[in-house]
Amino acid sequence: MNIREFDIPAQRQGTGCMKWDWDQKRTGRDGLTPFWVADMDFLAPPVVRQALQKRMDHGIYGYSFCPDSMMESLISWFSRRHHWEIPSQSIVEIPGIVPGIYSFIREFTQPGEAVVIQEPVYYPFRQALERNHRTVAVNNLVQNEDGQWEMDLEGLESTLQETGAKVMIFCSPHNPVGRVWKKSELMALAKVCKHYDVTVISDEIHADLVHKGPTHVPWLSLPEESLPPSLALLAPTKTFNIPGIPTAFAVIPRSEVRTRYAQALRASGYSGEASPLAYVAAESAYNQGEPWLEALLDYLAQNDAYLRERLHKALPQISLSPLEGTYLEWLNLGEAGWKDEKPVWEKLLDAGVWLSPGSDFGAAGAGHLRMNIACPKSQLEVGIEALISVLS
Ligand SMILES: Cc1ncc(COP(=O)(O)O)c(C=O)c1O
Repeated sequence: MNIREFDIPAQRQGTGCMKWDWDQKRTGRDGLTPFWVADMDFLAPPVVRQALQKRMDHGIYGYSFCPDSMMESLISWFSRRHHWEIPSQSIVEIPGIVPGIYSFIREFTQPGEAVVIQEPVYYPFRQALERNHRTVAVNNLVQNEDGQWEMDLEGLESTLQETGAKVMIFCSPHNPVGRVWKKSELMALAKVCKHYDVTVISDEIHADLVHKGPTHVPWLSLPEESLPPSLALLAPTKTFNIPGIPTAFAVIPRSEVRTRYAQALRASGYSGEASPLAYVAAESAYNQGEPWLEALLDYLAQNDAYLRERLHKALPQISLSPLEGTYLEWLNLGEAGWKDEKPVWEKLLDAGVWLSPGSDFGAAGAGHLRMNIACPKSQLEVGIEALISVLS
């Protein structure tokens, strides 16, 4: 895989593409260069495109089920890449990570009951609770003196005591602050959750998008005796840029929870059948997509280094959280005097670029912007120039 293939500009306008075609609807402006929603402006891996082409050529796209070979490719991927052996009987197919979270919340908590999230965090976590009339128990992440985002475990204990919450939605690696949690941090979280008998929903959709240095530790790979009741949510869709043809999976070690969860999914009308194209894409990606992923990670690291270098020189007052995982940069405008990022966000829209306002990720995200750097460098330059012109 030649890394320069990621330089090819994306042509996505007019394809019903949320990232590029929703600008008028969502911002009232046309022709914006997008850096918001978390998909990549790169072609999917060639092996995936070839496998899909072959399946397309078959010409019949009837009802399908998840073949055993798909499950085997998932298990093998996590064994190879993450040294985690997933027992096949613990896997439940789900329609997507977000629907999987919703189903769990609806089945295992009651209206009014508190559920913990750690903001700033991927906003569908909060939506899953608010839309289902659960109480959002927020235990914000905190920044240490080096600017590193951390979990506030003392705060978590107080939140659990005050609210009585018995479920927590956890993002690992973390969108938007880019943390890849260390094993020691996970163990400390597990200890608190086990003590308070809190079920942890570990959303690991970004597990494969980890940069040099840190290692993603799957939550369920922690020693069994140290874990609270838990489930992990996995998908190949972020890794290989195939979120429009989704497959996703929940790993639930406890059989009684798993059975009840699977029944709840069925009761909601879902019986575990994705598109035949989705299975083909996922299986080919897991079996043959590794070289592409390595090249992608190199390219993202170059984009990350370039952004940091440019902003450090031109806008030293803007700090960037270290990008340990994901392709989502978290820009702090607070020290430059912008405690509310919305006016900057608007000015950036006027300058033709579309980032995500930090306060979308909770009040703790105010004064920040999230920038998706999974795009050709030439596109990233457009975003950087706009940031420099608006913030200088
Ligand atoms: C943390 C996290 N979870 C889940 C999703 C989306 O998952 P799905 O499309 O399978 O619902 C995203 C997409 O950005 C994400 O960042």
